[in-house]
Amino acid sequence: MDVLDAMKDRHSCRAFTRRPVEREIIEELLRLSGLAPSAINLQPWECTVVLGEELRRLGRSLQKTLKERQATCGPEERKPLAEVFGRRMSEAGQRMAPLLAEMGTDIPTYVNQGTLDFYGAPAGLVFYIDAAHPERRLVDAGILLGYLFVAARALGLATCPIGLITQYADQIFDFLNVPADKVMALGVAVGYPDESAPINRLVTPRALIEEWVRWY
Ligand SMILES: Cc1cc2nc3c(=O)[nH]c(=O)nc-3n(C[C@H](O)[C@H](O)[C@H](O)COP(=O)(O)O)c2cc1C
Repeated sequence: MDVLDAMKDRHSCRAFTRRPVEREIIEELLRLSGLAPSAINLQPWECTVVLGEELRRLGRSLQKTLKERQATCGPEERKPLAEVFGRRMSEAGQRMAPLLAEMGTDIPTYVNQGTLDFYGAPAGLVFYIDAAHPERRLVDAGILLGYLFVAARALGLATCPIGLITQYADQIFDFLNVPADKVMALGVAVGYPDESAPINRLVTPRALIEEWVRWY
């Protein structure tokens, strides 16, 4: 699959089959992602790969904390957000809700619990940078992640960005023996899509470029 088709065809996958992803494929995916540009070629990103039963164990421990902490998926705004963002979020929600209803569940239940279990994926990738870097180095990690999502699609893999786990970074670093002086960028679920799951039919809309581009 060529890169433009992979960009157009990539969607977040929220139900995976149990089929494991071979280590060689994950290594290839990470090598391709590492071709991303970075400021002064620092390549500040680091990653821990969590597989199979270890990922399920991590998921179970995060589910317990979810009950105590109730840190859930949301925009986490610092100040009230402009109306346009609420509209985009609810458009995505309106498309997601009927698919989850077909599965006998709803957004808060499925997304919060599913996210913390990497939606049952066989592989979870946790990306972070050293806390010695300024926060803006997270942009470099973001560029790597953009490469990763597209490369994964081209390799026939499905992914879901797992942002909610950044709210549980301390617990995850502890579980994975990652030194505490790291800043988590994102988790990524990687695997093969369960084509029979209605939620995987979700296609989210995009704003026209006229809505977010200015010419000067
Ligand atoms: C930084 C970031 C964090 C995200 N966190 C989550 C998450 O925690 N759970 C989830 O189900 N989806 C998560 N997503 C997926 C978005 O909801 C999804 O990308 C968006 O709705 C657009 O849909 P698409 O990826 O299918 O094109 C995240 C995406 C990004 C870029």
